[in-house]
Amino acid sequence: MSEVHDTFNRPLRDLRISVTDRCNFRCPYCMPKEVFGADHAFLKASQLMALPELVRIARAFTALGVGKIRLTGGEPLLRADVPDLVRALKHDLRVPDVALTTNGWLLEKFAPALRAAGLDRLNVSVDSLDDTTAGKMNGQGFPVARVLRGIDAAAGLGLPVKINMVVRRGVNDHELLAMAEYFRERGHALRFIEFMDVGNTNDWRREQVVPAREIVDRLGAVWPLEPVGPAYRGEVAARYRYADGRGEIGLISSVTEPFCKDCNRARLSADGKLFTCLFAAAGHDVLDVLRKGADDAALIRHLGGLWAGRRDRYSDERADRLARGEPVPAKIEMSYIGG
Ligand code: GTP
Ligand code: 5AD
Ligand code: SF4
Ligand code: SF4
Repeated sequence: MSEVHDTFNRPLRDLRISVTDRCNFRCPYCMPKEVFGADHAFLKASQLMALPELVRIARAFTALGVGKIRLTGGEPLLRADVPDLVRALKHDLRVPDVALTTNGWLLEKFAPALRAAGLDRLNVSVDSLDDTTAGKMNGQGFPVARVLRGIDAAAGLGLPVKINMVVRRGVNDHELLAMAEYFRERGHALRFIEFMDVGNTNDWRREQVVPAREIVDRLGAVWPLEPVGPAYRGEVAARYRYADGRGEIGLISSVTEPFCKDCNRARLSADGKLFTCLFAAAGHDVLDVLRKGADDAALIRHLGGLWAGRRDRYSDERADRLARGEPVPAKIEMSYIGG
């Protein structure tokens, strides 16, 4: 195995693969209905990476140091072959950590197949426990009970589950305590994500960002919290444990405390383009290289070269840009590139 480092000496460790750009939710912070409507042009089946192509690209990444692969979307469970992909990653490639990020809508149905395929863990998005707010946050008016049943089903099968809550001031931040209480009782780590300026269409406003520090203060006033060191270098979430021993929370503070310094994540879109940052404007067409006949060694060389030239640090630069009042550059949509 040959490890590769970028221009800031950051290794490549984590690959996030979007398996589809489609989603059954329309969370306004990610895929606003007005933009992703009936006439939106999603990727065609022929443009998507097929299972054998996905496996070949993933194998090349493991040769460069990737030991953790997360499947995302859109909504990954809209693709029926996801359990087969998990099985290939775990059993053929022997990837140590294979995780999936889902909105949970189809989880009750998929949990047994994912478990059987060897999935290591799941991150499920839950923005609210109240149907009115949940319906607003998912943009479809869908109630939350079905997602919670999916979480119970997965946990019941022994799959570790973390919960992701995107926090928007004035929309769902009145639910911080209710969310913390519910998931603490069930033993799932809840991570609060600052509302980010991903994509170009989600009407991002700085005033709607609830800083991670404020969340820790609001929760800590009810249940005292103690900081926990990172589980690994470059961990996205800053973790805290409840002093009473009842589990932990995480804060993903991309806006107020960016974490680009140790960013070791590569992202692959569903049509096989490599993005070296969540906020990148353009990707590198890896699927095209593969379809034009590159063998495994050529693929590995190509990917290694792309990572070696990486200079991305968008979140670190955002603060300066906002302070100078400069316009924000065009970015790729998060539903296309994956969380
Ligand atoms: P684990 O710690 O392994 O569970 O993974 P994770 O924290 O990367 O999991 P997850 O995909 O659930 O990430 C949670 C959210 O953090 C994502 O949905 C994004 O909103 C945000 N996030 C993850 N990686 C990055 C990143 O590289 N940059 C930024 N700005 N945000 C990220
Ligand atoms: N800000 C923060 N997180 C976001 N996600 C999607 N859009 C945003 C945004 N604008 C995250 C959610 C979801 C994951 C797939 O992507 O956490 O759980
Ligand atoms: Fe779909 Fe997830 Fe985006 Fe919501 S955040 S629209 S569930 S991909
Ligand atoms: Fe990594 Fe880009 Fe996120 Fe910074 S903004 S942590 S470089 S993905």
